[in-house]
Amino acid sequence: DLPPRVRIHEVGARDGLQNEKAVVPTQIKAEFIHRLAAAGLTTVEATSFVHPKWVPQLADSEQLFPLVRDLAQDGRAKLPVLVPNDRGLDRALALGARGIAVFVSATESFAKANLNRTMDEALAMSEPVVARAREQKVHVRGYLSMCFGDPWEGPVPIAQVVRTAKALLDMGCDELSLGDTIGVATPGHVLALLAELNEEGVPTDRIGVHFHDTYGQALANTLAALQHGVSTVDASAGGLGGCPYAKSATGNLATEDLVWMLDGLGIETGVDLGRLTATSAWMAEQLGRPSPSRTVRALTGT
Ligand code: HMG
Ligand code: MG
Repeated sequence: DLPPRVRIHEVGARDGLQNEKAVVPTQIKAEFIHRLAAAGLTTVEATSFVHPKWVPQLADSEQLFPLVRDLAQDGRAKLPVLVPNDRGLDRALALGARGIAVFVSATESFAKANLNRTMDEALAMSEPVVARAREQKVHVRGYLSMCFGDPWEGPVPIAQVVRTAKALLDMGCDELSLGDTIGVATPGHVLALLAELNEEGVPTDRIGVHFHDTYGQALANTLAALQHGVSTVDASAGGLGGCPYAKSATGNLATEDLVWMLDGLGIETGVDLGRLTATSAWMAEQLGRPSPSRTVRALTGT
């Protein structure tokens, strides 16, 4: 059965912009986030508090967050931010962030490439962050990357993914986002992972899905997850995105492509597709290249 309503976790301003060659000016990012919220997106991942040398595209998070914080303060949108370690949490809390996301990997290769840690060290780095955030009643999402395939290791065994997913939930994450970082998943694989997670005691209502669209499978994978009962879906306005530390990661599922499908299925999202498309078309202009989203291109004739 399909869920009547889907919560879209918008990642364009973070996963999208972190992978753009151009560094987008802080004021433009702030306007982007305000426009996404005005289009009806209630969760807009704003930025990350990682090492500025690792992701220079988001090195302005101290300047940006205060420009958008009002959206969270008056309840228009939640603005979670990515935090890898205690230092990142200090920076986020100092600015009044009320939602964070820690991120670990289901593979050793990507834990090393993305966090300079082993898988266990990455979990150990996240654990005190999650504990401290929870003490402050800050909402915690746990991202798990490379849930389906890894560019160095190939297909990732489901048992290995489930073990790491459970470790994230056991340390206190409120929700889990299953990342197909390089976009290699196919619907059967998605259903097999979800079934095994349920089998091991992880309820579907704690699970979100995060598909990149490298092989054009993101929407099919999402539909499979919805049919399984998942109702939190990550997407990126205009299909911006990727991950700088995973070769062959391209943009996330485009939010417009997702909303087009959900509208057609009669599933509520609260998103105004016209306003969202106009926002992505405007951002594409800022970046100097057309949006890769099929829906944006169809609706704007580009
Ligand atoms: P490291 O080099 O091991 O850092 O990197 P360290 O812990 O050894 O610390 C070295 C120095 O960095 C210290 O300064 C720290 O204070 C400083 P020093 O004492 O030498 O002067 N430092 C920091 N400064 C500012 N903010 C911080 C911070 N942490 C340490 N937070 C580290 C380890 C985790 C920092 C680094 O690997 C890092 O920043 N990685 C982030 C990579 C990243 O952001 N990747 C993209 C996001 S993940 C993604 O996109 C996947 C996702 O979309 C889901 C999916 O698709 O799968 C979420
Ligand atoms: Mg991602």
